Amino acid sequence: MKSNDQWSSRFGFILASAGSAIGLGALWKFPYMAGTNGGAAFFLVFLLFTVLVGAPMLLAEFVVGRHSQQNAVSSYQSISGSAKWKWLGYLGVTASFIILSFYSVIGGWVITYLTRSFSGSLTGLPNSRYEELFGEIIGSPSTALLTQALFLAITVAIVQFGVQKGIETASRYMMPALFILFLVLVVRSLSLDGAMEGVSFFLKPDFSMLSAEGVLDALGQSFFALSVGISLMVTYSSYLDKKADLTGSVVSVVSLNVLISFLAGLAIFPAVFAFGFEPTEGPGLIFTVLPAVFNQMAFGGLFFTVFLALLLFATLTSAFSLMEIIVSTVTRGEGKRKKASWIAGLCVFLLGIPSALSFGVLGDISVFGRSIFDTMDFLASNLLMPIGALLISVFVSRKMKREILADEVMMSSKIGRVIFPIWYRLIRYFVPAAITIVLITSLLSY
Ligand code: PFF
Repeated sequence: MKSNDQWSSRFGFILASAGSAIGLGALWKFPYMAGTNGGAAFFLVFLLFTVLVGAPMLLAEFVVGRHSQQNAVSSYQSISGSAKWKWLGYLGVTASFIILSFYSVIGGWVITYLTRSFSGSLTGLPNSRYEELFGEIIGSPSTALLTQALFLAITVAIVQFGVQKGIETASRYMMPALFILFLVLVVRSLSLDGAMEGVSFFLKPDFSMLSAEGVLDALGQSFFALSVGISLMVTYSSYLDKKADLTGSVVSVVSLNVLISFLAGLAIFPAVFAFGFEPTEGPGLIFTVLPAVFNQMAFGGLFFTVFLALLLFATLTSAFSLMEIIVSTVTRGEGKRKKASWIAGLCVFLLGIPSALSFGVLGDISVFGRSIFDTMDFLASNLLMPIGALLISVFVSRKMKREILADEVMMSSKIGRVIFPIWYRLIRYFVPAAITIVLITSLLSY
């Protein structure tokens, strides 16, 4: 996909943006963030942020990209006529680098689990063994680095050939399959003895469990899960034709993403309580709980393998989008794509090494009380994404004319007509105010 390429259809565009959005954010990060931040209270705040901040931001990025028809760096410059706005694009590329560096670590874990599950070595173990196993897998430097490299190599291989179109076609089948498997998991998890305690943990809010830091986590998560704040969606929508309905696309991507997060919560928490795991387990949550749930199902081993393959696919489609924005910025659509992709992949790998090792040999190093991995995540999700989003909201509502925004939002869109006045106020006043307040209060609470 070069900068002058266009999506074959609006559906292709929705698939690609949903592919970028839906990934480890909803399936791996959301459950453990909710688990460490009090469950339902976090879910509720995350939902509010998604609807009132994340979704308007997604529409804002779509508007910039489609209007300028250029990549993230040049679109801000060409719209505003000022070179300093291109730094907003570079901020996005920097954030993409950081995100991909730790995202690929988890991608590597998924690959390890997939190979182990394929060989049958994950089924039938006692529940307590899954925690140990997870510790062994992530603590081994060679496994961590090798699988991280493999994950990045697959990403680069696909992005360099620009075969995303094929991937989009595959998503048509893979994503619904993942969805259905999740429904099955939810049913199994809900029917376990003691499941209701998990349901109330996930759905009955106790706000005393939520700290100011937790609120920032929820804001960061709403950006991370929708891939907004780093101008990636600007680049994606720049490939879109002039008449497509942007608002409708936002509604589809956001609702799918929220639904998947919800299903992930409903699959995990009942099982956490039924099996006596801890919801505060952290990044290992799905990797220790899900094998135990699959164990309780007929053909569980087979289903788990299929699940991991689909999870890997969802993870890769998000990684492609991160790599794509790096490569398209570096090459500016002028060729040398192959070389640029491999060099970018190598740099991301090098940057990711400390994160990969922070679950093992570098486990003792902490930065402001966080592991190296958590620090990278915090930097990207809780600082760069909100700051990027803040600047994009200011750019859209102060540097672009209201009529142009109205045109873009309402184009071919009935719902766009209804939403525009609300969206305009949100993006002009509420979004920048909310982000500033959350950032300042939570940073002051350290
Ligand atoms: N949204 C992806 C996920 O939830 O897995 C992660 C991600 C992709 C974040 C692309 C940011 C981004 F630009």
